[in-house]
Amino acid sequence: MDKLVIEGGRKLKGTVQISGAKNAALPILAATLLTQEKCVISNVPPLRDVQTMVKILRSLGVRVQMQDSRITVYPAKYKGYTAPYKLVSTMRASICVLGPLLAKQALVRVSLPGGCVIGPRPIDLHLKGLSALGAKIKIEHGYIVAQGKKMKGARIYLGGPFGSSVLATANVMMAATLTPGITIIENAACEPEVVDLANFLLKMGAKIHGQKTHTIEIEGVKKLHGAEHKIINDRIEAGTYMLACAITGGEISIKGASISHLGVLIDKLKGVGTTIRHSGDTIFVKATRRLRPVDITTLPFPGFPTDLQAQMMVLMCMAGGISVITEKVYPERFMHISELNRMGARVMKEGSSAIIEGVPKLSGAPVMASDLRASAALVLAGLAASGRTEISRVYHLDRGYKTMEEKLSRLGAKIWREKE
Ligand code: UD1
Repeated sequence: MDKLVIEGGRKLKGTVQISGAKNAALPILAATLLTQEKCVISNVPPLRDVQTMVKILRSLGVRVQMQDSRITVYPAKYKGYTAPYKLVSTMRASICVLGPLLAKQALVRVSLPGGCVIGPRPIDLHLKGLSALGAKIKIEHGYIVAQGKKMKGARIYLGGPFGSSVLATANVMMAATLTPGITIIENAACEPEVVDLANFLLKMGAKIHGQKTHTIEIEGVKKLHGAEHKIINDRIEAGTYMLACAITGGEISIKGASISHLGVLIDKLKGVGTTIRHSGDTIFVKATRRLRPVDITTLPFPGFPTDLQAQMMVLMCMAGGISVITEKVYPERFMHISELNRMGARVMKEGSSAIIEGVPKLSGAPVMASDLRASAALVLAGLAASGRTEISRVYHLDRGYKTMEEKLSRLGAKIWREKE
């Protein structure tokens, strides 16, 4: 296993290029199962989660070629219908093969994804949506077993206790593209990654309206064809570097970032005193010497993304005063608090909120990554802290950030990888 070592206290300076969005690439790769023709997907980040999705496609009998950030998928007449536990258990997003498989195969078996450290992650909305389309679904021996012979378009309300669901929307939208009749998804997710998936499906010949809104309408077609598509860039990666800059007192340019995907973060960063400008797809960030406290509530897009909550907490740790985070997407997603407190932060969890009292300085310490975004937060804390931070279990980070230590080193950080 690898660990990251950081000698903190350096201001970030320079330019960083943002990679393709993992959370857009995963459902788009799954969507290639809806056709028998070749699909070419570019700007795919070479991350472990992407490799897992490729393994799932291959296990279904699909030929996949990977060359740098370009993946060519040849789904001609694949026969597989089972997504096995050993792959699905390593990545919850594997559930997004369920919708496309169901639209193409008479019988489908997809392993239930299982637990997750960021809190309970049910799949009831996925099953509710697909059942509303007429799929017959049973749970057997840890697998979702579904039959989709007589599916028909339907009006489906897809909201749960925490609002819309990104991958449930993706699953139902993908299944509906080949389901006869009109499907209307109410309370649909409108995250940029859902819009990117809809754009890929449109290129394949699907009939979809209302993506970007909370009501998506899909008219089923008989067949989808192959398509080429460039994945959008990763707004969470861009946001992580914006925060890294603000926290370290730096000044950086972020290339390949879309301000329309980052509105709420830009607003909050301006609120704490950071200067933000943009030109085309480049965002310029200049830190302030004194960070002001700020409150955030995580919500579905365009609200504050839960995937930037942990990184934002590090900034709040450095601000002069009390900040509050209210987590309304994953109320238990606070595993990073105890590790940040080991670095001298003063954070207290209160129900689904965290109360953060800013401290003058964090101090480097050995810490342990618990999940993907918590790992990124620990890296940011290590960059801001005085002294040496060692982050173990960085395999979590490798699931979602392409060569983070290389990108940060180019910005002047002292960070490197070692074997544990
Ligand atoms: C996606 C992202 C993940 C992000 C999350 C929320 C991918 C691969 N992952 O995950 O990085 O943190 O969106 O923005 O795109 N829920 C239910 N029932 C369901 C499904 C979800 O109650 O059937 C709840 C979840 O527990 C959570 C909320 O709905 O509280 C939102 O989750 P959801 O949008 O489904 O997350 P994912 O799509 O799995």
